[in-house]
Amino acid sequence: MDKFIIEGGKPLRGEVTISGAKNAALPILCSSILAQERCTYANIPKLRDISTITDVLATLGVHTESWQNNTLVLDPSGIHAFDAPYELVKSMRASILVLGPLLARFGKAKVSLPGGCSIGVRPIDMHLKALAKMGADIAISHGYVIASAQGLTGARIVFDTPTVGGTENIMMAATLARGKTVIEGAAREPEIFDLACVLNKMGACIQGAGESTITIDGVDSLNGVEYSIIPDRIETGTFLVAAAITKGTLTLKNTRADQISAIIDKLQDMGVEIRVENNNEIFVNGNHDLKAVQVETVPYPGFPTDMQAQIMALACVAEGVSSITETIFENRFMHVPELMRMGADLEERGPTVIVRGVRRFQGASVMATDLRASASLILAALNASGHTEIRRIYHLDRGYEALDQKLKRIGADVVRERGTL
Ligand code: EPU
Repeated sequence: MDKFIIEGGKPLRGEVTISGAKNAALPILCSSILAQERCTYANIPKLRDISTITDVLATLGVHTESWQNNTLVLDPSGIHAFDAPYELVKSMRASILVLGPLLARFGKAKVSLPGGCSIGVRPIDMHLKALAKMGADIAISHGYVIASAQGLTGARIVFDTPTVGGTENIMMAATLARGKTVIEGAAREPEIFDLACVLNKMGACIQGAGESTITIDGVDSLNGVEYSIIPDRIETGTFLVAAAITKGTLTLKNTRADQISAIIDKLQDMGVEIRVENNNEIFVNGNHDLKAVQVETVPYPGFPTDMQAQIMALACVAEGVSSITETIFENRFMHVPELMRMGADLEERGPTVIVRGVRRFQGASVMATDLRASASLILAALNASGHTEIRRIYHLDRGYEALDQKLKRIGADVVRERGTL
C-alpha cells in the first residue's frame, strides 16, 4: 500500500486543470448497457473506481475498446451475462448502478448486495422498492439481489429522501420501460443532470433532471453516443481549500463554478477570496485571515457531504469556533481523530463537530480511512509544521486523479512512497 509523505507550509501557486467527475462517470458508464452500439466518453478520469466499473461491465460483456487520453470507448453489443459478482461490488458500491440498466434492457440481473461501508450503512432499499413498483420481481438470496421483469412498466416513484444512486438507477431503468415514469423527491445533483443529458443524446426522453420531479417517457431502444462528462466539483472544492489552507493563489481551469455555489459561499464567508471567470475558471487567493464557519451537509444544491471533511480541515486553522454538522451519512467523521493527532481541537457532539481554531496543524503519522477523509488529511498536512505521513492512500486513488502529481506542479512537497503498509 502506498503512503504520502508531505512537508507542510508551502503556499500553493499556479494553475490546476480539474479532471472529469468520478460520480458522473460511474453512472454514465453503466448507462452504456442500455445502448445498442459503441459509446465514446471523453473527460473520464483515470481512477481506480473507473477501472472497477469497467471490470464489472467486462464481466457482463461490455468490451473496453480503448481508454486513452481520458477518452473511454465501450462496446455493449456483446452483452452475454447479467451478474455483478461480490468480489467487484464489495470494492465499489456504485456497481449497483448496473441493476436498473440490465433489468430494463434484458429483463434480468443478479447483483451482489454492496454491504456496509466505512461512512455508513448505505442501504439500497429505495432502489429496490422503486424497481418493484415498475413491475420487477425482486428477491434477496445468498447476498445477491436477483431481479427479473417481463418488460418494466412506467410508474410514479416517490423518494421520501433524495437518493443520488436511486434516482440514477430508476432514471436509467425508465428509459426503456413501457409508458411514463415520474420520479418525485428526486436527487438534484449535477451528476444526475449529466446522466440525463447523455441518455437523451442516446434517444431517451427525460425531462426535469436537476429538479425534484423527473419525467421519463420510455422508448424502444437507445443508440450509441459520444459525450464529454462534467468536471469534478469535489476536486474543484478540494483545490479551493488547498489554496486557502496554504495561503496560496491558484487558478482552477476546466471547472464549473455554477455547480459549487454552496462551497464558494462558505469559503467566502470564511474570508477566502474567490473570483469566477466565465464560469469555467476560478481564481482563489488564500492570503487572508480565516474566520470560523457553520456548515450543515445537505443534498444539492446545499453544501455537499463529499466536502465536509475538507472544510473541517480548513475550519481547524480558522479564528474562532466553527460547527460542522453531517446529515447525510451516520459515520462520516472518521477523519476527526486523525485531525486531532495533527493538533486540531475538535469535539464530536452527535452529528456535529465543534471546531476550535488553532494556529496551525502539526505534522504526524496518520491513517486515511475513506476517500474524502484522505483528502482532509492531505490538506491538513499541506498546512502543517514538519512532515506528515499518510498511510492507506489507496482510498484517495479511488477518487482523485493523480493528486500527488497535480499538487507537486503547484509547489507542494509531496512524495508517494510505494508499497509500504
Ligand atoms: N439511502 C437509503 N436507502 C437507499 C439509498 C440511500 O437509506 O436505497 C440513504 C443513504 O444511506 C444515505 C442517503 O440515503 O444516508 C443518501 O444516499 P445516496 O443514495 O444519495 O448516496 P449514493 O448514491 O450511495 C452518492 C455518491 C457519494 C455521495 C452521495 C451523497 C456516487 C457514486 N456516490 O452516493 O459519493 O456522498 O451520493 O451525495 O455518486 C464520494 O464520492 O466520496 C461519495 C461517497
